[in-house]
Amino acid sequence: MTSQTPIAETIKDLSQELLLTLAQAKARLLAEDPESSRPLTVGFVPTMGALHEGHATLIRRAREQNDVVLLSIFVNPLQFGPGEDYERYPRTLEADAALAAAEGVDLIFAPSVEAMYPGGDPKITVSSGKLGTIFEGKTRPGHFDGVLTVVNKFFNILLPLTLPQDAQLTAYFGQKDAQQLALIQRMVKDFNQQITLKSVPVVRADDGLALSSRNQYLNEQEREAALVLSRTLATLREKYITGTLGPDALDQARAAIDSTEGVRLDYLEVVDTDTFEAPTSDQARVLALVAAFVGSTRLIDNMDIN
Ligand code: PAF
Repeated sequence: MTSQTPIAETIKDLSQELLLTLAQAKARLLAEDPESSRPLTVGFVPTMGALHEGHATLIRRAREQNDVVLLSIFVNPLQFGPGEDYERYPRTLEADAALAAAEGVDLIFAPSVEAMYPGGDPKITVSSGKLGTIFEGKTRPGHFDGVLTVVNKFFNILLPLTLPQDAQLTAYFGQKDAQQLALIQRMVKDFNQQITLKSVPVVRADDGLALSSRNQYLNEQEREAALVLSRTLATLREKYITGTLGPDALDQARAAIDSTEGVRLDYLEVVDTDTFEAPTSDQARVLALVAAFVGSTRLIDNMDIN
């Protein structure tokens, strides 16, 4: 391992490390300002590893805003369907730990599947409701139940650990997974979880491709072909802003993606950012969403278009 950042692999290890880290951070806070009544802040960045600049942006935001930064790395089997890429999903713990150390992460939680799901798949899971069955949820049935179940578990593991120091927990998620973000926001509200959520905009390569751990699967031609996704979203944004985005323009945009060699469109839609339903005319935030197979790799992207 190239980094000094402690890695906890079981919930017991995590508890010991995190309680110690929080106590030390609290002592530092009080040494700097004995009168301080400011609560200790903990930033949590949940990931499945294979970290890239998008994750680094989340970590940096958490680092700027918190006394303690915790990163989780867990490829959650529950959110992969049959025939999806669970087995081949990139696992790069050593490189991830080095990136985490360089970005100032205090502690990594990288549990095994057995540590997270002792006794196999959980019998009780979080149901993602109607919002979990459209778009990504339609193509990937059960995906969001799996995401919400593991995120709920993370929050349930972490929240009690923050109590002894009266620390405030903030979790950071990327807007790249816009539907996931909307669902987690809903879960926190519906389950009264004492956690603040913050989101960070999609991070793109210089040519516009949204960063994703799955970009590693693309060969050179596929990577080039994948640019049609971000370019089409940018075109939709232009049209929305100039008031020329009608159903025809959306159909043309779909055809532009589908006629790109090696690309097969799953969906392209314009929705309300919170509900994922058709935007109403006085909508504050409107999102263009796309999902497509590029070769055998399924990519998603989205853009705020107003
Ligand atoms: O966005 C991800 O990487 C995952 O869905 C998450 C939130 C870490 C849950 O496994």
